[in-house]
Amino acid sequence: MTDTPPPRPKALPPGVFPPERIEIDEFHLRRYTREDAEPLHEAIKASFAELHPWMPWCVDPVKIEEQRDFIERGFLAWATGRAFDYGIGTSGDGERGEEFVGSISLMDRIGPGGLEIGYWLRSDATGKGIMSRAAARLTEIALGLPGIERVEIHCDAANARSAAVPERLGYRLAAMVERLEPTAPGETGRGMVWTTP
Ligand SMILES: CC(C)(COP(=O)(O)OP(=O)(O)OC[C@H]1O[C@@H](n2cnc3c(N)ncnc32)[C@H](O)[C@@H]1OP(=O)(O)O)[C@@H](O)C(=O)NCCC(=O)NCCS
Repeated sequence: MTDTPPPRPKALPPGVFPPERIEIDEFHLRRYTREDAEPLHEAIKASFAELHPWMPWCVDPVKIEEQRDFIERGFLAWATGRAFDYGIGTSGDGERGEEFVGSISLMDRIGPGGLEIGYWLRSDATGKGIMSRAAARLTEIALGLPGIERVEIHCDAANARSAAVPERLGYRLAAMVERLEPTAPGETGRGMVWTTP
């Protein structure tokens, strides 16, 4: 008979959540809805060349079922406090009066006291400071939640544009970690762990 391991302790107390919508300058972060599957799918397809090297889930062909599944899993992850996934929207000509330009998540996967931020942008939305400003605000919000003392951003050592985000925000490089295998084709397998000071 095998023993079931005890559930991993959660970073946030029960019933505590970050806001579902966050306004930042000309764009906003908002919790995903099922209607986001299509724009999410389009954004991933349009950014395949830039995402594929770094995001293990970005493989050919990009299937909308996977974006639907990501959103469904996100509902459960949000409700159980394990991850808070936001679509990033700017005002534009989209059907919903906004343009979908990327994704950012706050994740409970670095142990007690901490939350990790992960992100990507649609290629034509890069170079405008959208991610740096989104990550800055989410960091501030995370550090204001009960029990959260640090926020981390992890990326591969070769992913200079990703590493530039925490560096720009004043995070410090806390560790370099050797992974057994790279998880995406651009990766070296050497990981950077950036953390709030
Ligand atoms: C990682 C990623 C989100 C970074 O995108 P980015 O456009 O470089 O980041 P930002 O949106 O913060 O934009 C920063 C740029 O805007 C400029 N900028 C303009 N206004 C700015 C502002 N108000 N604040 C900060 N930067 C600003 C910066 O100077 C910088 O310019 P540079 O590209 O010439 O250096 C993007 O490259 C990406 O999606 N990559 C593929 C997926 C990926 O690797 N994800 C991370 C996995 S760990």
